[in-house]
Amino acid sequence: MFELPIRPRRNRKSEAIRSLVEETSFKVSDLIFPMFLIEGENKKIEISSMPGIYRFSKDRLLEEIHTCVDLGVRTLVLFPSLSDIKKDKYATESQNPDGLYLSCLKDIKLSFPDVCLMTDVAMDPYSIDGHDGFVENGEIINDITVDILAKMAVAQAKAGADIIGPSDMMDGRVGVIRKALDADGFSNTSIMSYTAKYASAFYGPFRDALDSAPRFGDKKTYQMNPANRMEALLEAQLDMDEGADILMVKPALSYLDIISDLSKNFPLPVAAYNVSGEYAMVKAAAANGWIDGEKAMIECLLSIKRAGAKVILTYFAKEAAIFLKKDL
Ligand code: PBG
Repeated sequence: MFELPIRPRRNRKSEAIRSLVEETSFKVSDLIFPMFLIEGENKKIEISSMPGIYRFSKDRLLEEIHTCVDLGVRTLVLFPSLSDIKKDKYATESQNPDGLYLSCLKDIKLSFPDVCLMTDVAMDPYSIDGHDGFVENGEIINDITVDILAKMAVAQAKAGADIIGPSDMMDGRVGVIRKALDADGFSNTSIMSYTAKYASAFYGPFRDALDSAPRFGDKKTYQMNPANRMEALLEAQLDMDEGADILMVKPALSYLDIISDLSKNFPLPVAAYNVSGEYAMVKAAAANGWIDGEKAMIECLLSIKRAGAKVILTYFAKEAAIFLKKDL
């Protein structure tokens, strides 16, 4: 027997002690549930690469929101999937108050005034080019895009959005969106900026779900290079100076260092987007019996919190809420 004054295992000897000294936890109010909206009626179609996640027509989406609210999931982010005939070069449909997306935002707020509704600001769901920005001669034109995005954001605020989520990675868009919102009387509408959004392979299932993959090229001229860390600090500084309320890192699991950097260096809350591919990997391995899906989910969410995120956007939100209820 040796003399060891410090035996870290003492703090692990029982479930009671382990939970007493537990450093990180998450609650259902930390989670945002991303939901997919499609045209039509009475539709609930599972996304094959994201088991348990569906594309809903508006009527079925409202039902699903009811379930979410009952589980305590009160913040949602909504993404639309439009048919090609609604798409053009200017993403015109994104400003149509009677269109699929904006009319649905309105109906959600009417039925669920206490739900916190976050939107997506980017051109890709409405653009015939499938890019987040305006395309001219094969290039994404920054400043024209930013003007379009600002109009889109104001239209979403008018429809009742609580949080505007620019996911496009154009330069200067947070500032221009902030000014446009304020000018139209929406100074209370928040901005959660996709601050450090990387050009990632982990968005694959999302693009399948919305049929929103770029029609040519890739998104590397606007989304960040996965090799870069310092650049995230620059993006965060700009977004904070331009008026963002919450900074987001995306994806989450391969970018825990970035989450940690932003949470240590900026006074704003940090959010992380646990993206479609990260969800799909856990589900696929669990379906094969290779990992315990529920335990892996909890470990993923904990690791994102441990890195410094306050908020997690995750397709696991409902399942995690069910788990947390069980855990009481
Ligand atoms: C597009 C957008 C994407 C996601 C959210 N908004 C995909 C992309 O940038 O191509 C990805 C979300 C996910 O993978 O879960 N504006």
